[in-house]
Amino acid sequence: ARQRIAVIAGDGIGQEVMPEGLRVMKAAADRFNLSLSFEHFDFASCDYYEQHGRMMPEDWKSRLEGFDALYFGAVGMPERVPDHVSLWGSLLQFRRHFDQYINLRPCRLLQGVTSPLANRAPGDIDFMVVRENTEGEYSSIGGRMYEGTDRELAIQETVMSRHGIDRALRFAFELASTRPKRSLTSATKSNGISITMPYWDERVNAMATHYPDITVDSFHIDILTARFVMHPDMFDVVVASNLFGDILSDLGPACAGTIGIAPSANLNPERRFPSLFEPVHGSAPDIFGQNIANPVGQIWSGAMMLDHLGHAEAADAVVKAFEAVLAQADSAVITPDLGGQGTTETLGRAIADRLV
Ligand code: NAI
Ligand code: MG
Repeated sequence: ARQRIAVIAGDGIGQEVMPEGLRVMKAAADRFNLSLSFEHFDFASCDYYEQHGRMMPEDWKSRLEGFDALYFGAVGMPERVPDHVSLWGSLLQFRRHFDQYINLRPCRLLQGVTSPLANRAPGDIDFMVVRENTEGEYSSIGGRMYEGTDRELAIQETVMSRHGIDRALRFAFELASTRPKRSLTSATKSNGISITMPYWDERVNAMATHYPDITVDSFHIDILTARFVMHPDMFDVVVASNLFGDILSDLGPACAGTIGIAPSANLNPERRFPSLFEPVHGSAPDIFGQNIANPVGQIWSGAMMLDHLGHAEAADAVVKAFEAVLAQADSAVITPDLGGQGTTETLGRAIADRLV
């Protein structure tokens, strides 16, 4: 049956990298005979906000609910709309309403890409960060007291439910089971955060008993960030709460090179709701309009989308295609962030051409 994909390019370079993402998705669909349809939406953008006074129409849920996946660019134009308005009015609504409780980010150093870490070669960095995406430290429970006085205070509670933790852990352990290293690292801070983090550790240990062939270790978040930088080669699957995962899932891709290539998936693994696939980077207003944004983050996110839709072979071919083009490092093709003089389009086309 035909699979329907909602395309939301959003703001800034989202509008420049999305056409290249779609070019590659269409090339993959042709090559592997996939029946995919793409429907474009102009909301979840600051243009839409300026016309309508809101980021999305009132019926956005019913309009997007029936899709098999959401292919997203980036949102945010801080000079025109405050970031908390654009982000909370769009992307964060998708994550919550569609119960995308896993944020998955591959961190892999590719040939042709330079890591900011000294002496790192492709193969040294190849791990996945699994972030719990719905609860934890990002609850809205709390408030302020004694405002305007010198006793003023603010409280925000952390929520860790068995259901919420276990479903994230189960996903991470299952993922680790599919990878050759069969290793899982948990981010914790149970020495300092004495109630919720020991509970997290307890659930990790409980889940581990169901996966006896996975090697499990656990690090406090402070030393873990240091190890990301000093020993990125020791990681395979890293699972973390919402806040720790937020930090690690930016640090990991940063260790693996330019932000322009990093992909991410916001997953509802049971497929009750559409999952969302987007590059890690934002709308990059500083380079918008120059056609020099690197489209690989958008394209790699598209490969994750194909995989989620059940097209592993096509996903693999897309990954191989951009790996080959990056490894070639033809300076007329690759974008300036990779040291070339190419454009968003020359790089996108070169990748799509590999799939024909
Ligand atoms: P950003 O990721 O947009 O840009 C950071 C730096 O990386 C900039 O110098 C930019 O030129 C560069 N860069 C980003 N993507 C690139 C690409 N594909 N190729 C080459 N260079 C690239 O982050 P920033 O500047 O903090 O945020 C700008 C706007 O994007 C804000 O409104 C922010 O809220 C929004 N944002 C949205 C995200 C999303 O939609 N998921 C994620 C992060 C930020
Ligand atoms: Mg972040």
